[in-house]
Amino acid sequence: MNVDLYERIWMWLAGALILVFLGVIVSTAAMGAIQPPSHVETIDPTTVAAHPEFGEPAVKTNADGSVTVSAVAAMFSFTPDPIEVPAGRKVTFRLTSSDVIHGFQVVGTNANAMVVPGYVSQFSVTFDTPGEYVIACNEYCGTMHHAMVGKLIVKREQP
Ligand code: CUA
Repeated sequence: MNVDLYERIWMWLAGALILVFLGVIVSTAAMGAIQPPSHVETIDPTTVAAHPEFGEPAVKTNADGSVTVSAVAAMFSFTPDPIEVPAGRKVTFRLTSSDVIHGFQVVGTNANAMVVPGYVSQFSVTFDTPGEYVIACNEYCGTMHHAMVGKLIVKREQP
């Protein structure tokens, strides 16, 4: 089969571009620790307030020293607020919504997840730098979406 020279050049260029794009996806996923959505865990969004874990969302320290944050997003705030966690330790966030889709982004870190009613979003992260961080809702959720912010306090571990 005779393929014109320019046709061949364009085919190779298009093939190379596809490889470049795939490489960008793989490298950003590896360097930014980007993961696909977490395990599928469902929850009835209408009974979140009576749920044993999310009815009283809180920060808990586990036996191995890691920390679990159970938090609820609802128009237009996060509970608990502020959330206080220790620096340098593994923090597992478990998030759910009792109304609409919200976002949960700890600004300046790669902690960022969608909070979808009916599901528990879970991810783990270690904050190395103590300080106060803004938690922003980054999914449009209603008229006061822009005001839906929380605070994360990362405390230095006492020696
Ligand atoms: Cu919650 Cu936007």
